[in-house]
Formats: sequence, structure tokens, C-alpha cells
Amino acid sequence: MAGATAAATLAAHRDWWRESVVYQVYVPSFADADGDGMGDLRGITDRLAHVADLGADAVWLTPFYRSPLADGGYDVADYRQVDPRHGTLDDFRALLARARELGLRTIVDIVPNHCSERHPWFAEALASPPGSAARDRFIFRDGTGPDGAQPPADWQSKFGGPAWTRVPDGQWYMHIFAAEQPDLNWENPEVVAEFEAVLRFWLDLGVDGFRIDVAHGMRKDLVPPLRNTYGGDSASLNSPPSGENHPFWDRDEVHEIYRCWRKITDSYAPPRIMVAEAGVSAARLPLYTRPDELHQAFNFFHLRCPWDAGSFRDVIDSSLAGAAANGALPTWVLSNHDVVRHRTRYAVPEGTSLPGWLLTGGREPAADEDRGRRRARAAALLTLALPGTTYLYQGEELGLPEVADLPEDALRDPMWERTGHTRKGRDGCRVPLPWTRTGSSYGFGPGGSWLPQPEGWGAYSVEAQTGTPGSFLELYRTALTLRRRYLGDETFTWLPSAPGELAFRKAGAGPSGGAAGLECRINLSAEPIPLPEGAELLLSSDDLTSSHTNTRLLPPDTAAWLNTTPHP
Ligand code: GLC
Repeated sequence: MAGATAAATLAAHRDWWRESVVYQVYVPSFADADGDGMGDLRGITDRLAHVADLGADAVWLTPFYRSPLADGGYDVADYRQVDPRHGTLDDFRALLARARELGLRTIVDIVPNHCSERHPWFAEALASPPGSAARDRFIFRDGTGPDGAQPPADWQSKFGGPAWTRVPDGQWYMHIFAAEQPDLNWENPEVVAEFEAVLRFWLDLGVDGFRIDVAHGMRKDLVPPLRNTYGGDSASLNSPPSGENHPFWDRDEVHEIYRCWRKITDSYAPPRIMVAEAGVSAARLPLYTRPDELHQAFNFFHLRCPWDAGSFRDVIDSSLAGAAANGALPTWVLSNHDVVRHRTRYAVPEGTSLPGWLLTGGREPAADEDRGRRRARAAALLTLALPGTTYLYQGEELGLPEVADLPEDALRDPMWERTGHTRKGRDGCRVPLPWTRTGSSYGFGPGGSWLPQPEGWGAYSVEAQTGTPGSFLELYRTALTLRRRYLGDETFTWLPSAPGELAFRKAGAGPSGGAAGLECRINLSAEPIPLPEGAELLLSSDDLTSSHTNTRLLPPDTAAWLNTTPHP
């Protein structure tokens, strides 16, 4: 899209976020301009045309703030500065300007649950005595047991081990994640005020919205004595907490924060948006998107859905209903920087424990690569046909698999150390992108790459796939282009379907204002299924076959888009 037209389109759609495609850039691994092996903002700016060419509407950038990078930048030492390894504030301004020119909106990550142990507030807290104002910005408590040598409660870190670390004077501080990520005390007015100011800082720079990290974790039940969680361990990221009134997950008080934040984002013209990362139950997720709170919440139920028509149908129905309760549309996510890439999830036998599989270097049990490829392509068409916003994770448009055999000494995820080497963690989905077939780090940058890229990574590159019929990249590009035609009136209807098949129709305003209907069919059964006669085939995730009577057949693990626009 040409710059001027793109900018005009940007201004025109206040509610652009209801039905859009947001491309997640994992900053350390997208592109590296300065050759230090670590992705940076200049690298992103240089490569941003890829995201626009794909047909996305927005980019979400994971944290690029000053940070020791103990958890990929989700440990922020300064919320208003860019980490030197990722660039400068001027680089960020240039990135925003380039995004605008390309017609892309920009969403940044905000990490309010915890900061880095290198944040000046934490240094001040450590240097101050128990009970001081500096300690009150965090959650410091005395230990239990005769000499206070036991943690204050049995709370477990998401990355393994206790959620408490002891400091030299004997007190303990709380961290839901790594010890390098002390939790902030959201009952402290200074913390509340600081984050309002941080939001305004980025809004004033011109960002279009925020992704809110661990949006269900900020408020804790701090009434003494702290309650135990009964040994409840929530080892896997994004898993819904087991029960209500949990001492730190998904507490009702967290919504007060979002009501205040919404007033801030609404005070900008046009209003800016917020999306929650909240691993809560399907019943409670809509609470986060009430009209005076956040605009969207990630839908991890879709990501976790087994490959089964009934399960997908249930997830789609409950997601649509949950969002509709707030007059909204759902989001759809298949992958992100915290989970095994979906191409690989679909390739391993159903029921495989992914952490255990990763420990075998991805060898046991054997993955069915072709099945993973077919299902990932079919899932993309299913997902992109649904009403609402799809969040794509960088590299899924290239069909990247998980790199399951990263050498142990290359692992950077704090989960690896914190679990005593029993969980490899999330590095396998964070391996830097391949842009070119060959060359230093396959075009990621002029130097190496902070995580090793596997041999042959260049075969997945943007260069190798551009213009190649049947490539993942061309499938995504075509799908995103077609998708735009069917945005509009947001009507969704299930259609009669064969056992193991899902079929639905989505209507939109149509390219020239008339009604346009997109019919999506996906075969999750083991047998080919006849496609309806007559309808024009727009796109299929793999080649169709035909029966002896010449009926078009949808093979297993394949999806098709049909045009059901009535002829004038
Ligand atoms: C979120 C992020 C994850 C990070 C964690 C702690 O779940 O997506 O990458 O480790 O929060 O900030």
C-alpha cells in the first residue's frame, strides 16, 4: 500500500482492532542491524515491509526496554529507555514512522507485574530496612519457621521453584517468575502512579496500543497471614489457575487497574487499545474485556485445542459467546514466544508431553513432519476465517518448526536453570528468523545469532518462499489479502457438515459494498470429504483431490475457502 493511502486508511478506522491481523515481533529474534547477534529496532524497521506485504494491520513488539535480559526483556530495568542492545529511543521513533508509512499500527508490551532486580527501585529496596517505604513497592515479608528460614508461603514460581527469595537481612521477596523479576506491590500508590505515567510516555510517543503482560497477576491477597496455595504448582505458562480466590492469580481487584488505564487510553485521539495476556478460565476471561476495561484478551483456548472437530467447535462457540457478552469479537492465537510452535505441536503424536519431548531433543516419540505441515496450513485458514483479530507469531507465516534440539549450553530461558534442567523452556520457538537462503545468520544480521539457527534454516527463509507456489508464505499472503474482502458485518453461521468436518460462513461488506460470503471448510477426519458443488474455490491449504465421479474432495488435514457471494 502506498504511504499516503496507508496513512489515510489508518486515520479512518477507529475500531480497526476489532477485526485485524496483528503480527508479533519477538524483538531479540526478528532482525539484527548492528551485527551483535541480538535483534534490534533498526533491524525491525529495515524489515518491516515484510509485515506490510504479508497484509497484517499492526505489529506487536515484545519488550525492548533497558533490561539485563534475564527473561528475554520481560525483566525491565527502565520502562522509558531502549536497551542499548536493541537500539535507542530515536530508533523507536524511526520505527514508528516507518510503520505509519507502511500502514501498520504499533503495539508495545507493558510489563507491570514485576520489574527487573536491576530496576533502581529494587536496588533502593535492598538498601533500605524492612518496613521501609522503598520495600513497600515490592512484596517483602518475614519468613516462617523458628528462624524465618522458610518462605512466607508455599507460592510457586511459574518458572519452577519457590516464588520467594531471601535477602541478606533475612526477609524474603516475592516473584511469580524468576528471582530476577521481583513482583511489584500494586497496593502501593507510587506503583500505580508510575505505570500511569509510563503508559502516557509511550502514548505521547505515538504508540497505538499495549499488550499487557501477565494481566491477571498484579493484585495479590496480602492480608496476613499469607495463604498457602496448597502446593498448587502452575508449571506451564498460560495455564488457567485452578481455582477462584487464588492468592495471586486472577483476583477481582486487578480490574480496578484496567478501569483507570482505559480512561487514559480513551483520552487519546483516536483511542488507543489494550490486549490482555491473561491465563484464566473461559468463564472469567470476558471480565477483562468489559467495555470500561481492556479491548481484547488473547484466546489461548484456541491455541490449546486438540485436533478434533468437536473441540474446535466448542472453543469457537464459547469464544464468540464470551466476547459477544461485551459486544466484542474474540482474538485467535496459534503460537507465540512462550509455546512450542504449532507446526510442531501438530506433528507430535496426540497426548505427547511437550516438555518431555523437548528433553529428548525432539526425537522421542517421532514427529510426523508432513502431518504437522498440513495441519499448520489448515489451522491458518481456519483461524484467519473466524470473526475477530488474529495474532500471528513471527515465523509462523514461514511454517517454522520448533527447534527442539538446541544444545543445552545454548539455552537462555530461565526455566531451564530454575527447574534443575527438567524443562528446556521456550528457546526453541525463539530462534532468529531466516530471511535469506544463505549468508551470515541467514539474513538475520551481519553477525551471528544469539541462539544457534539449525542447518538448512535458509530453506524456510522469506527469500526461498517468496513467489514459490505452495509455500507457507504465499499461502499466508493470499489468505490475508482475501480475508480483507470478508470483513464487515461480522456475521458468523455454522453450516451443515460431514462428521469430522467444520464448515461455517462468514459474511462481510464485500469488495464493492455488496454482501460477500466466505465459506470455510476444514477436514479434521481421516477420510476425504466431498466439497459442495458449484461454489468457487478461493484457496485451499493443500491440493484438493477428486472422486471417481469427479466430485472435488477435501483431503484429511486440509482446509478450503469458498466464495458464496450471491451472483447479481
Ligand atoms: C509472559 C510473557 C513471558 C514472560 C512472562 C513473565 O507470560 O509472555 O514471555 O516470561 O510473562 O514476564
